[in-house]
Amino acid sequence: MANQNTTPPFSERPFKIFAGSSNPSLAESVAKHLKVDLGCRVLGRFSDNEIRVEIQENVRGLDVYVIQSTCAPTNDNLMELLVLGDALKRASVRSICAVTPYYGYARQDRKVAPRTPISAKLVADLISTAGFSRLISVDLHAGQIQGYFNFPVDHLFGVPVLFPFLQKSFGDEPITVVSPDAGGTERARILAKLLKSPLAIVDKRRLGPNEAKALNLIGEVDGRVAIILDDIIDTGGTLCKASELLREKGATKVVAAATHPVFSGPAYERLSQAGFDGLVVTDTIPLTDDFKKMNNIEVIGVGPLVAETIHRIQVNDSVSALLEY
Ligand code: R5P
Repeated sequence: MANQNTTPPFSERPFKIFAGSSNPSLAESVAKHLKVDLGCRVLGRFSDNEIRVEIQENVRGLDVYVIQSTCAPTNDNLMELLVLGDALKRASVRSICAVTPYYGYARQDRKVAPRTPISAKLVADLISTAGFSRLISVDLHAGQIQGYFNFPVDHLFGVPVLFPFLQKSFGDEPITVVSPDAGGTERARILAKLLKSPLAIVDKRRLGPNEAKALNLIGEVDGRVAIILDDIIDTGGTLCKASELLREKGATKVVAAATHPVFSGPAYERLSQAGFDGLVVTDTIPLTDDFKKMNNIEVIGVGPLVAETIHRIQVNDSVSALLEY
């Protein structure tokens, strides 16, 4: 019988990372953690604004990763990802993985009313057609989006990235982790388990797209630090309504934590006036200048997590081991 200790480790297959233009600092962070250079490419525009791509080095036979969050300008960033995929496929790569730390168009993930699209599935079809054969993403708005792809999806979580900061900043006080709606309960439960704290859930109603109302709270926050955890902060409506309710219910501090800082429309005005005792997000989407100047915002990088995931894929190691909490 072969001695398992003498089995050689899997060797790393050759790979290359290319960056789209949505999130250059995250792409650099991933490359730095993997100790590789980003691939050379031209990413420009024709005079009519069509996207022009050219891969400027040999990529034949490589596993290639394209890092591109499909955040705003969503249509441009999505199209750039697709065109990059097409260029790489035609350059005879071995495989192409779309690394979309933020996967846009995810909110319409099922038909909730007659004659509405399932845009998350449409985007999955576009990514597949462009030639990608794997996806890495962080906190997909709905886990079932993984099933829209007929190839492997590595679905990473933002919670372990946010947890150390929250533990360090508020770990000495009594905490309740709050899900701002029923849909986020599973995510909030993981953070509550890590922080060894109880969980509360806001009974949220949607009055229309981007319009939320916090009706009631299930759980206790009186005399405690309430940490609201969400996947997305878009207009800030959900968080601000939840925050008002939590203060009414006696929370000593209200802290907002989320993976994706979408921050559109009235988000800046709302979040800067809401008086949060802490606001922490990840860098799946780069901050706009006004948010960069905001006093109490903390941005935690997902680069090390994405880099470790890529490394494990390249050596055929378990990615799910990264996700066990
Ligand atoms: C909703 O299901 C999501 O988890 C977020 O709560 C929502 O997208 C946040 O949007 P907004 O900041 O516009 O309320």
